[in-house]
Amino acid sequence: MSKRRIVVTSALPYANGDIHLGHLVEYVQTDFWVRFQKLRGNACVYICADDTHGTPIMIRSRKEGISPEELIARSHAEHLRDFTDFQISFDNYYSTNSPENRALSERIFAAAERQGFITSRTSPQLYCEHCKMYLPDRFVKGACPKCGAEGQYGDSCDLCGATYGAEELGHPACTTCGGTPVVRDSEHLYFELEPQHDYLEKWIPGHTTSDVSNKLLEWFKEPLRGWCISRDAPYFGFEIPGHPGKFFYVWVDAPIGYIASLQNWCERNGKNLADYWPSGADAEAGGTELYHFIGKDIIRFHCLFWPGMLHAAGLKTPDKVFVHGFLTVNGEKMSKSKGTFVNARTYLDHLPPEALRYYYAAKLGGTTDDMDLNLQDFVQRVNSDLVGKITNIASRGAQMLQKKLDGRLGSLDDEGRALLERCRAAGETIAGFYEARRFNQVVVEICRLADAANEYFDRREPWKSVKTDAEATRTTLTAALNAFRVIAIYLSPILPAYADKARALFGESAWTWESAGTALENSSLGSYEYLASRIDSKQVDAMIAAATVKPGESGEVSHESRASKNKAKAERAAPALKNEIAFPDFDRLDLRVGVVESCEIVPKSSKLLKFVLDAGPLGKRTIFSGIRPAYPDPAALVGKEVVFVANLAPRKMSVGVSEGMILFAGEPGVGGGALVPTSAAGAGAPVT
Ligand code: MSP
Ligand code: ZN
Repeated sequence: MSKRRIVVTSALPYANGDIHLGHLVEYVQTDFWVRFQKLRGNACVYICADDTHGTPIMIRSRKEGISPEELIARSHAEHLRDFTDFQISFDNYYSTNSPENRALSERIFAAAERQGFITSRTSPQLYCEHCKMYLPDRFVKGACPKCGAEGQYGDSCDLCGATYGAEELGHPACTTCGGTPVVRDSEHLYFELEPQHDYLEKWIPGHTTSDVSNKLLEWFKEPLRGWCISRDAPYFGFEIPGHPGKFFYVWVDAPIGYIASLQNWCERNGKNLADYWPSGADAEAGGTELYHFIGKDIIRFHCLFWPGMLHAAGLKTPDKVFVHGFLTVNGEKMSKSKGTFVNARTYLDHLPPEALRYYYAAKLGGTTDDMDLNLQDFVQRVNSDLVGKITNIASRGAQMLQKKLDGRLGSLDDEGRALLERCRAAGETIAGFYEARRFNQVVVEICRLADAANEYFDRREPWKSVKTDAEATRTTLTAALNAFRVIAIYLSPILPAYADKARALFGESAWTWESAGTALENSSLGSYEYLASRIDSKQVDAMIAAATVKPGESGEVSHESRASKNKAKAERAAPALKNEIAFPDFDRLDLRVGVVESCEIVPKSSKLLKFVLDAGPLGKRTIFSGIRPAYPDPAALVGKEVVFVANLAPRKMSVGVSEGMILFAGEPGVGGGALVPTSAAGAGAPVT
């Protein structure tokens, strides 16, 4: 099959908020799909950016006393860090506040103007004389003109559902300063959609699912209303050429930001934008595929205005818009007061990213249905399936092979070949599910294969045969580990870091989807790195506690207040002791005994030592400790027993993943001196 060229986007997150678990529903599934395409050998480019323009960003930067540019630079760094830590791998993560985007926005607007699609009309708007700005709908509150309910926004009423213009509100108030706005006439530019009525009506059904298109098509029974695309100064955005004091509404330049980010990627990678986002006659030619992943709240922008803009400018329209539903937590809307509105960073402070990626995959079926994160089910599924079922094959097989059979794979017998054949045979089914974004089915199939491998393992009872017949045992483990290898390849788009460790175990440098077709025989295993850890509902509880916003506290923790809180915390802790912890905090530590199996200097680091601990039933643990200054001779530590924190979330360091923390004691400031002595309770023993 020939290679496909595919451009994929996720919606551009607003720069004025933190990434949260709801956002991740989108970015994680796009990442699964992109990684799958790359694994299949397709030339796939994953494009995203921060959506940086608009009133909320302007207001927020004012409140913080910084420029909008400073605010968006900070968000960009934070967003990218969150995404990277969730193993979401963009080919380009750019910004809508870029020169490319300005030029493209002007070009597309000019094309629409040339075709007569841009009109202007005057309409009454609310203006705050104190804030010196026109108020967008969400920046004004008042009484609903229909039912009289107080405190309603300028666009619609939460109580009776009426929609209206902000100037119709009873006693309106500016949400920024509380002042009473006045009504002023202002001229605005509109992008007329009616000239493309027929085009869009035909376009929509072929480019999204029927539930989405049926809803959109309801509007086509009447002439399409024009879309207001200008905003008055002051506005953080791009000024409209030829219309001083008027700015492009953020939703104009936001989707154009997809092209701008792609262009920036092309420039940095020696590619031609026209090959990736064709225009003119090539726009319809179909050499490149283009897909947008979006949430159901922004359908109108992507399936109506956006194809309208692209078509007007003679640019390629998306092949498909993939729409997903919203995240609920424990069956309800995410809530700050219940602690279920969880930021990506808060999650990462308590739980491993793999767990969420795995769980989301297990739940995502490629439909617009909402998706529930049930926290109890989350813990249970990760532990029973990812750890207990899938990872178990590798941890049991690899450790026995390494300990008892010099880590060398043998050859497959008929039964082993049959097991492997079964795994391979599932490959195209699984690939089909990936392509269709039915990730839940991918996980179901993979769990079936893991069941078969575990069943094979248990039936052959290698833990018994190892005492009497080493070579028969080697044959068993060879089949089980090869089955695991194929499973890890299939799983790699969902769990990339996990798959990297699995690949290293087999001593391979890269995997493609086709790698699943080969078997490894008579080769040596690399060292077994801890692949995935069980999670504990206590970690979830701690995350929810950290995310809970108490009544009176605003959900929006501003950076200022966050910084001053941290500073106050640091000051309280300044004397010798850290803040006191309650017993339950202490009780959350799972302290275990480990035997130092190896201890090595980490190249290019003056502080770090790399320990591999034998933790008995817990397997091997790799731990990096900044303790080298106290131990000039690391080899002397081999064989010593140490106490370590076994349930510390694995931490990715530049030198590798650290899977725990070893306790050392010594003079303060010297950083060690003696390993904590332990009784000879044996590796893995809990410390009491
Ligand atoms: N900036 C716009 C998108 C511009 S695209 C040209 C925006 N940003 S957003 O930050 O509010 O949302 C980004 C994406 O995350 C959207 O696709 C949105 O649907 C999705 N989600 C945000 N909250 C979500 C949930 N709670 N659940 C699932 N997806 C959600 O919209
Ligand atoms: Zn005001």
